[in-house]
Amino acid sequence: MAQADPLSVGVTIVTGAASGMGAAAAQLMSGAGRRLLLCDLNADRLAESAGRLEGRIDTLAGDIADPGFPGQLVAALGDQPIAALIHCAGLSPTMAEPARILEVNLAATMRLVDAVRPRMAEGAAAVLFASMAAHQVGTMFDEPLSKATTPEAVAALLACSPNSGMAYSVSKRGVQLLVQREAGAFGQRGARIVSISPGVIDTPMGRQEMAEQPIMQALVERSGLKRPALPEEVAAIAAFLCSPATSFVTGTDVLVDGGAVAGMAGAA
Ligand SMILES: NC(=O)c1ccc[n+]([C@@H]2O[C@H](COP(=O)([O-])OP(=O)(O)OC[C@H]3O[C@@H](n4cnc5c(N)ncnc54)[C@H](O)[C@@H]3O)[C@@H](O)[C@H]2O)c1
Repeated sequence: MAQADPLSVGVTIVTGAASGMGAAAAQLMSGAGRRLLLCDLNADRLAESAGRLEGRIDTLAGDIADPGFPGQLVAALGDQPIAALIHCAGLSPTMAEPARILEVNLAATMRLVDAVRPRMAEGAAAVLFASMAAHQVGTMFDEPLSKATTPEAVAALLACSPNSGMAYSVSKRGVQLLVQREAGAFGQRGARIVSISPGVIDTPMGRQEMAEQPIMQALVERSGLKRPALPEEVAAIAAFLCSPATSFVTGTDVLVDGGAVAGMAGAA
């Protein structure tokens, strides 16, 4: 018997919804008639992003790294279950110091996952944004990451994150490992959790990294497709991973990089 579409009941939460892939995901989910709760640090741009959409849309502006934020998010749901979480909010290497990158990308993501887990509907999915940078470092930091499985312990990862680029890679590998650890607990609720690892994407963040880090251009040139992706191309994968078509996909990462990691491996 066909499974009911879990996205037709409950709320779809999109973080980082004011820009880039979060805005594209919000657009896609709103077009599919989903009830949305959109979050971002930037209240003005969040209101603009929500204003472009039609349907049942609530917004919550705030810093996901504020330990009180997940509680506000759950309170904003009222008694509605969560149909999907698309967690895009994050910082790239040139945007902050190592400590802030680890806090926003990993510690805050752990707190968010803790808060949403008990509210996930059966058949629902959480999609967390990691990065191809995590594929590039592979298992190099898995040992320290295995000891930093709580938000309070994440600051200890500064010891292996001497610069913002390394902190970014460590934080995103941490997101991939979080998804592996959480699959069982989400499964007990009949829910799923996965990560997406984008390559170079044409968003404000991607453009900033391309402008400030020459290696990004080399990654694109050596990739299979030899171009950055549009944010919509990654948002479509996030929406797909939230759909019943992927009902047996959990605890894993999906690399959406136009063949950049494969290109680097070939170049090595
Ligand atoms: N663009 C790329 O090339 C690329 C590549 C790999 C991974 N990623 C990851 O994909 C995700 C989305 O990236 P994007 O390119 O759409 O970025 P973006 O900068 O265009 O959008 C990110 C949004 O997150 C919000 N945000 C940042 N910090 C926040 C905080 N503390 N609390 C709440 N909101 C916050 C920003 O205000 C912004 O609106 C990020 O996690 C990023 O690390 C991006």
